Amino acid sequence: MALESLLINGGVPLRGEVEISGAKNAVLPMMAATLLTRERCTIRRVPDLADVKTMVAILQSLGAKVQHAGDTLVIEAARLKDKADYDHVRKMRGSICVLGPLLGRVRRAKVSVPGGCQIGPRPIGLHLKGMEALGAKVKTTGGYVRATGKDLRGGQVFLGGHAGPTVLGTANVMMAAALAKGTTVIESAACEPEITDLAVFLKAMGAKIDGAGSPTITVTGVKELSGAEHEVMPDRIEAATYAIAAVATRGEVTLKGVRPEHLTAVLDKLDSVGAKVEFKRGKMTFKRARTLKPVDITTLPYPGFPTDVQAQMMALLTQVPGISVITERVFESRFMHAAELHRMGADVAVKGPSAIVKGGTALSGAQVMASDLRASAALVIGGLMANGITQVNRIYHLDRGYERIDDKLRGLGARVQRMQT
Ligand code: EPU
Repeated sequence: MALESLLINGGVPLRGEVEISGAKNAVLPMMAATLLTRERCTIRRVPDLADVKTMVAILQSLGAKVQHAGDTLVIEAARLKDKADYDHVRKMRGSICVLGPLLGRVRRAKVSVPGGCQIGPRPIGLHLKGMEALGAKVKTTGGYVRATGKDLRGGQVFLGGHAGPTVLGTANVMMAAALAKGTTVIESAACEPEITDLAVFLKAMGAKIDGAGSPTITVTGVKELSGAEHEVMPDRIEAATYAIAAVATRGEVTLKGVRPEHLTAVLDKLDSVGAKVEFKRGKMTFKRARTLKPVDITTLPYPGFPTDVQAQMMALLTQVPGISVITERVFESRFMHAAELHRMGADVAVKGPSAIVKGGTALSGAQVMASDLRASAALVIGGLMANGITQVNRIYHLDRGYERIDDKLRGLGARVQRMQT
């Protein structure tokens, strides 16, 4: 695979409208959920992302038939295998969310244990604890989780870990419980909107779920689920990224197809920094209102400030005079972007789970590289603000989670080019 880079000639304020795509972190578990039924499911507003392609490959390797036309996916898993291979799972940690559906539907699952990634260790102990609470027997050997659950039945499970609830763990337990006998109560469930969106889809399939979006979710198992249609929620992280880029470049950007209620923590911080936000006829417009002020941010599970927006916000804060402190409470080593922003002229010091940003130092274009999706987005924002040309290398990370990012930025007036390196 040829590696691609993004060349950004900075200093242009972003202006115009951009359509927000369907949410990556909603569509991935939703695609896995289609394994719960032998009937055909249709998912609309599916973003064109590398991670979606990886999930398609996983579903196909498990025996599902997948048709992909435009932004619609039609998936039919009439017959299923029970084993998800390392080759697919290693590419994407989100693939762990086939565990719950396989266990629910075929009462047996063998899924390669996902490795850690650049944002730190990514344990799955809580997922397994959830499966055990449903009566499954779980063993991890030879790099695979093997779970069997002939008598899968409802149970009570607490899914809080050292950093709060687990998002995909909640999705996994909800999906397995949908076909278990009896009632499951998940305490300390993740409240992320992606979980609520998954529950809406599962309910359309016939699942009985109450409380999704709150810390207590109750699932009453049913014998069978049927096919369903669903449109994926808008990507709140993509929306936040373009909103921050608008403020960072002193531009004015209107986001179409967003849900402001998913963005409250981000809007609150952008307001404190000095952004002006207008919401009219389903669109949101972001620009700078006044001189920017530094802020302190702590990432937390939803409805707190999202860890997935921390890096982009750091890029903005490098240009806000004064000292901002960012504390990362979800993935404590998620600061790789700090060193790369530093190469562009930013003054950021990482001390344990906090980054101290001394804002206001000029950024100049440089070659940079990030090894995680959101860190790469931060470098793009850095490049858009910087003087001169920034080359963001290895943009396959961006392509995992941002649909056509170069086209969308060009549509807003940015001087951005994709090139082979
Ligand atoms: N954790 C445990 N034990 C577990 C699972 C998680 O201790 O069994 C810890 C993690 O180490 C972390 C915290 O719990 O400290 C939260 O992790 P979580 O399980 O919620 O993360 P995830 O479900 O694997 C999803 C998103 C991430 C996003 C996090 C947090 C998907 C596909 N991924 O991951 O998205 O950062 O929730 O909101 O939904 C991204 O899009 O760039 C991304 C990394």
